[in-house]
Amino acid sequence: MKGLIFRCLEELVIEQKGMDLWEDLLEQHCPEDRVYISARSYPDEELLAIATSVANALGLNMEQTLKAFGTYLFTFLAKKHPAIVKEFTSFDKLIISIDDVIHNEVQKLYEEPNLPTISATVIDPNTIELIYNSPRQLCFCAEGLIYGCAEHFNESVTIEHTTCTHRSDPYCTLIITHG
Ligand code: HEM
Ligand code: ZN
Repeated sequence: MKGLIFRCLEELVIEQKGMDLWEDLLEQHCPEDRVYISARSYPDEELLAIATSVANALGLNMEQTLKAFGTYLFTFLAKKHPAIVKEFTSFDKLIISIDDVIHNEVQKLYEEPNLPTISATVIDPNTIELIYNSPRQLCFCAEGLIYGCAEHFNESVTIEHTTCTHRSDPYCTLIITHG
């Protein structure tokens, strides 16, 4: 996972719980003197270990924590990459372009990013079916990103997670109802 994602988790933890907790988490889960550089990659296990401790500190489960993190992550990414997000004038246009446009741009900007495969299909004017596939199984983070995206466009959404690799399905299906 890119340092950028760790930087976002760092910002969230410091904002919610303070610098001391972040320092403790680094000490517990990382090699000495760890500093996250946005464009470099760090082990996925490190992110998950930190996220697990964050969940404990917040009294939430992993699912809730990854959703909250994903929601925060959308705003963070939109701040770091304003040009990419500004291409889109609505929630649904952005969602159907995640793979072909957004992550395709990410592919050009970062060296060997680990991205999920996402395909989004418009079912009707208020419904999008999104298929999420990734060996990292961060579908709850994807859900959070979608909530964050909805907030960005002042839309309200509901998401039904109808199939899930965490329940032994071959991929995750998110049925997004919006506007
Ligand atoms: C990684 C989904 C929008 C840039 C990821 C991951 C997910 C995801 C779930 C974690 C990796 C994995 O699952 O395998 C989404 C969704 C989005 C969205 C659902 C919209 C609602 C964006 C935007 C940007 C972005 C707007 C930047 C402009 C990235 C980057 C990574 C990433 C840099 C990390 C790659 C790495 O660590 O190697 N995305 N994303 N994404 N995404 Fe997105
Ligand atoms: Zn899932």
